[in-house]
Amino acid sequence: MHKTALRIAAPLAIGGIAILSTRQNLQNPFTPSSTALSESAPEHSPNLARWTQKWVKSETRWHYTNTHHTLIKYKHLLPSRGKILVPLCGKTVDLLYFPNQEVLGVEGVKKAITEFGAEQSAFFPTGFDSEKDTKENANFETYTGKTETSEISLLRGDFFSLNVPVSGVWDRASFVAIDPSNRPKYVETLKRNLNEGGTILMSTFWRVAGTPEAVNGGPPFSVSEKNVRDLFDEKTWDIQVIEEIDIMSDATYKESKERWTKAGLTDFRELVFLIKKKGGKKWWQVWK
Ligand SMILES: C[S@@+](CC[C@H](N)C(=O)[O-])C[C@H]1O[C@@H](n2cnc3c(N)ncnc32)[C@H](O)[C@@H]1O
Repeated sequence: MHKTALRIAAPLAIGGIAILSTRQNLQNPFTPSSTALSESAPEHSPNLARWTQKWVKSETRWHYTNTHHTLIKYKHLLPSRGKILVPLCGKTVDLLYFPNQEVLGVEGVKKAITEFGAEQSAFFPTGFDSEKDTKENANFETYTGKTETSEISLLRGDFFSLNVPVSGVWDRASFVAIDPSNRPKYVETLKRNLNEGGTILMSTFWRVAGTPEAVNGGPPFSVSEKNVRDLFDEKTWDIQVIEEIDIMSDATYKESKERWTKAGLTDFRELVFLIKKKGGKKWWQVWK
């Protein structure tokens, strides 16, 4: 009896120690002291400077500790094969919500990536490579890791330089985060990287009414259906609004409602878009 218990317990203990020490080793690539920042997309560049300041001061109120409600509800509308892109990913836990898929997060500030690696126990960093994919991604540092079922790459650099084919995009607090003057460039980046027939699931905030400062303020900047239709050209994209949530009355937002009211908004909504890139093979073409 005693021997049997020992036979079971000993390998478990050894396995546990092995897993712990592997995790310690694997975390190295994500520690702040690792390799120097790439010069090609420095964190003080115009697109990233203000965000770097926010990360340095830990002013990351947009960060949710749980998977976003819209992703939970509509993830089935994203392709279940191919790579999923999470642009401007910060340290979102949504990166972990794509089992059996390859996930690519793009983030400009290294502290966000470091914190993601340190905080998510389901995520095991496997490497850091400033040279990887240099042809396609000369402007990025690549951090890799995995969960039990998915492979996650995190590219640190300016999203607008991205060149990686992907089949789906989850965009939350990203399109609304950039300066509105950069929106055409953002859409161009999505168009360049998303395969034909690929899908974008995007959640935006629409500042419908309130004081002029509140309606025109940001980030998050207001993105209405008209804004999206003006930016995503009809020739390339099919656009659908699949949900509109009244933030001032919906239970999902009960904790933030007061903040937005204080900021001067009287009507504020979340819009959920499903945007498909036209083209790609139809099922009857795939089977030919
Ligand atoms: C409002 S946060 C949203 C983060 C994430 N989507 C989430 O839901 O938690 C926007 C993030 O985009 C990053 N960012 C802003 N501009 C960027 C750019 N041009 N390239 C890469 N990352 C950028 C910021 O550092 C910040 O972490």
